[in-house]
Amino acid sequence: MSRGLILGIESSCDETAAAVVERGSRTLSSVVASQIATHLRYGGVVPELASREHLRAIVPVVRAALGEAQITLDDLDAIAVTSGPGLAGALLVGITYAKALAFAQDLPLIAVNHLEGHIHAVLLQMRSLPDGQGSETDQTALALVVSGGHTHLYLAQPTNGTWHYSLVGRTLDDAAGEAYDKVAKLLGLGYPGGPWIDALARFGDPHAVQFAFAQIKPKIHLGGKPPRTKAAKTAPIAELDPHFLFSFSGIKTAVLRYVELHGMRDEASARVPRMLAAGRTPHSKEEALALCPQPTLDLIASFQHAVVGDLMKKTFAAAESLDAERILITGGVAANRELRERFTGEASRRGIQIAFPTLALSTDNAAMIAAAAWPRFAIGDFASAELTADPSLALGS
Ligand code: KG4
Ligand code: ZN
Repeated sequence: MSRGLILGIESSCDETAAAVVERGSRTLSSVVASQIATHLRYGGVVPELASREHLRAIVPVVRAALGEAQITLDDLDAIAVTSGPGLAGALLVGITYAKALAFAQDLPLIAVNHLEGHIHAVLLQMRSLPDGQGSETDQTALALVVSGGHTHLYLAQPTNGTWHYSLVGRTLDDAAGEAYDKVAKLLGLGYPGGPWIDALARFGDPHAVQFAFAQIKPKIHLGGKPPRTKAAKTAPIAELDPHFLFSFSGIKTAVLRYVELHGMRDEASARVPRMLAAGRTPHSKEEALALCPQPTLDLIASFQHAVVGDLMKKTFAAAESLDAERILITGGVAANRELRERFTGEASRRGIQIAFPTLALSTDNAAMIAAAAWPRFAIGDFASAELTADPSLALGS
C-alpha cells in the first residue's frame, strides 16, 4: 500500500525549500535554505540573484529533504511544486526541477498555489497535534494570509474532499510584511525587517506615536449596489466590502515623515553597519538601546501596534460578518509576537477559535506545499506536462 508520501518543492521568493509529508499530516522532513545573506546588503530581494541562488540550492535541498525523511525517490507517491504567485525566474527553477523529477520517476505532479500552501501550513500544524485535537481541521474558516507579498482574507471551505477559497478582503497596495520591510529599511534596521521590528518593539511605548488608518471608501462605480460580503466570489476589488480592504502604503509614508520631522534620518543611516555587526535580534532592553535610542524604539512599537490593530479590526469584522467560528492566521507576519498575543486575546473574548502555524511553518517552507497537495492527490488533480510559472496566480474565485 502506498504511504502517501509527497515531496513538496517551494522556490517562489527567497527561500529554496523541500519537504516530505506523509498523507498531508505527518512531516518527515522540512528543509529551508534561506537567501537572506545574499539579499541583506541590498535591503530587499533581488530577483536575478534569487533565481541564481535557487539554481544552486535546489539539488542539495531536495537531497537533504529525502535524506532527513530517510527515504529515496522510489518511495514517493507524488511531487508537489509551487506554481505561483511569486517571482517568475524563481518559480521556474522549482517547477522545472519538479517536472524533471516527476518525469524521470513516473510520478504525478501537483501544482500548488503558494497562498493555499500558507493556509495549509495551519491545517498541517493542527493535524499534527496529538490525541486527535486536530480532527476538526475540515471546517470552514476565515484565513488571513499576511506575508511579504500578500495581505489577503479568504473564506476557506472544505468541499468534496478538496478546498474552495473565496476572496473576502485584500490590500489595495503594499502587503503588511512589505510595510514592515520598508519601515525597517528606512530606520536602518536589518533585512527582512519583520523579525527586527518584532524584537525591538517590545522595548518601546506603543502609544507614543498615533498612526491612523483611514476607512477605505466604497468605490463610486459600485453605483449604490451593496458590496458583497457573504462568500464573496470575486477577485475584483470593487466588489469586496471596503471594511475588509487594507492599505499599508500610508503608514510607511507617515513613518518617513515622522523620521524627517524629528531629525532621525542620520541616526538611522548610521545604524546600518551596527545592525549588520549585531547579527541577531536583541533579547534585552540594553541590547535594544545599544542599537536604537528610546524615541526610535517608541516609533517602532507604535508602528507595529497600529499595523496589528488594523489587521485585527478588519479580520474580526469579516469574521463577524461571515459568521466564521474559526480564524486561521498564516504567512511570515503571523510569526509576530504582538500579533499572536493580541489576536489570541480578542478571539477568546469573542469565543472564536484561532490557529497559527508554528514559527517555522509561518514563513515560506515546502511542508505547507506538500500538505496542500494531499487533497489534490487524493482526487487525482494533477498538473499537465505544460505546467509553467504564473507570477500573479490568484487563489480561489
Ligand atoms: O511568508 P513569507 O516568508 O514570504 C512571503 O510569502 O512573502 O513572509 C515574509 C515576510 C517578510 O516581509 C518579513 O519581514 C515578515 O514576513 N516577517 C515578520 C516576522 N517574521 C517575518 N513580520 C513581522 N514579525 C515577524 N516576526
Ligand atoms: Zn509566503
